[in-house]
Amino acid sequence: MLVLGIESSCDETGIALYDTHKGLIADTLYTQVALHAQYGGVVPELASRDHIRKLTPLIQQTLNEANIKRTQLQGIAYTKGPGLMGALLAGTSVARSLAYALNIPAIGVHHMEGHLLAPMLEENQPNFPFICLLVSGGHSMIVRVDGIGQYKVLGDTLDDAAGEAFDKTAKLLDLGYPGGPNVSNFALKGRANRYKFPRPMVDRPGLDMSFSGLKTYTRNTWLKAIKENDATEQTKADICRAFEIAVAETLTIKCKRALEQEKLNCIVIAGGVSANRSIREKLSQLMNKRGGKIFYPRLQFCTDNGAMIAYAGAQRLLAGQQNDLNFAATPRWSLENLTPI
Ligand code: KG4
Ligand code: ZN
Repeated sequence: MLVLGIESSCDETGIALYDTHKGLIADTLYTQVALHAQYGGVVPELASRDHIRKLTPLIQQTLNEANIKRTQLQGIAYTKGPGLMGALLAGTSVARSLAYALNIPAIGVHHMEGHLLAPMLEENQPNFPFICLLVSGGHSMIVRVDGIGQYKVLGDTLDDAAGEAFDKTAKLLDLGYPGGPNVSNFALKGRANRYKFPRPMVDRPGLDMSFSGLKTYTRNTWLKAIKENDATEQTKADICRAFEIAVAETLTIKCKRALEQEKLNCIVIAGGVSANRSIREKLSQLMNKRGGKIFYPRLQFCTDNGAMIAYAGAQRLLAGQQNDLNFAATPRWSLENLTPI
């Protein structure tokens, strides 16, 4: 089955073609980073308008590059939620109209299920069940995964998501948008032993996370440096390093706890923050020590992309699931409310 995937939940327009026999055929991404950079974050209305401008030409470009005619498509998968309402509606409308015109089925995909299943786009795939650390700009969850659509959220963030914490740290230190990769690059030049930041909530039982305390600690450290005339590039790098290690260690402690609780020894990391070098390193060390397995998508499939939506939607369409023409987007949508296949 040849499926067109459409991702438009936030600031990236992602289009992909996935064939359930041949695998991924094409994957195109248009990022709005330059558009939002001057505002220091995503402006929802600008995001929606840009998706409207880019969706149709990008679909055509992807089909042309893969030498595939529109009439060869057998299904369409689009991000139905969660995300920015206007941005979601842009992709949803295009997907539903195209499916109607071509008389093929369409399915709305949960954006976080897309992230969670992204490692399945790789040759070396994890087997169910596993624990997934799902960390993006809007979500930080630890999920037990027993199959496609069989998700139990074991831990969630009580306030900021991990990606949000990275983005706010970048903003505080004036490192630009998007924050995660910039903080991470700065951290490379930072000295590990200058600061030790707190590991939030690790002394409390359970798998929930909270990053707002760490955010405040980071801010106070920076303000103190300014006051002491020490607001240098080196201090910024040292803060980034301490912040990144604190996030990586906190997430690793929580994952270890989840593996022990669920008696599993396989972990998957997915979502934009899973691109982070330190987090991958710390979790790999943990899994090495435990003799367990770790999986993560290649970098381009960690952040938002059309391939993960095409893949997740293709599995559901193949199982006979589809949506009717009622195409409401779902900006808030629990991962636990999905239909298993
Ligand atoms: O999954 P994603 O592309 O979009 C959402 O669904 O939110 O994740 C974006 C988030 C942003 O907060 C970004 O700063 C963060 O992922 N991110 C990173 C890195 N690359 C992206 N955070 C830390 N280290 C990175 N290398
Ligand atoms: Zn995402």
